[in-house]
Amino acid sequence: MELRKINTQDAFAQWEYTTALPSDENGLTNPNHGVSYDEYLENVLPTLISYEHPVNMPEWFVPETYYYLWDEGHLVGEFRIRHYLTEALRTGAGHIGYSILKGFRGKGYGTEGLRLTVQIAKSIIPEDEIYLRVNKDNIASQKVMIKNGARLAGEDNQHMFMRIPK
Ligand SMILES: CC(C)(COP(=O)(O)OP(=O)(O)OC[C@H]1O[C@@H](n2cnc3c(N)ncnc32)[C@H](O)[C@@H]1OP(=O)(O)O)[C@@H](O)C(=O)NCCC(=O)NCCS
Repeated sequence: MELRKINTQDAFAQWEYTTALPSDENGLTNPNHGVSYDEYLENVLPTLISYEHPVNMPEWFVPETYYYLWDEGHLVGEFRIRHYLTEALRTGAGHIGYSILKGFRGKGYGTEGLRLTVQIAKSIIPEDEIYLRVNKDNIASQKVMIKNGARLAGEDNQHMFMRIPK
């Protein structure tokens, strides 16, 4: 199993994942749900790649790197790392967002993918802890976080705010 940074060689598999990912599932948003392969190649992929070193983006935009989890030739999940916290991220979505392909859930991919992502995030983010947010009714994701050493740091009506020490 490995994480591969978003790239042009894997365009087709990345597109299949992106276009199938719902526009909002448990708070994980995807504005590119349903995008065509042509549109993905022309606009979406270059844009997502550019997020690592943003150009002409608004002041509030934090650099973000997309990684894909691969297992034996299958792209099974997506993990996004935001490189540092702003106030909005600190009290919101935090450093990492992730999802696993529907047919591959419940097989340990979420847990292993977050483990690999945290290893990378530790070398990118300046904060002492990795911030994560999860919906209170998203038991699977809470387990993925806890199995990766997360502790509960706070909550609001809908969310739990979790942190993994560096
Ligand atoms: C959350 C998500 C990434 C979990 O990925 P996954 O590959 O299924 O996770 P794992 O297989 O590592 O399972 C982790 C734990 O959750 C449990 N689990 C999996 N699906 C579950 C479900 N629907 N209900 C309850 N528990 C579930 C597993 O049994 C496992 O627990 P265990 O270790 O006690 O057996 C995946 O469900 C997903 O993509 N959901 C939609 C997007 C999302 O919610 N992203 C996270 C936003 S914070």
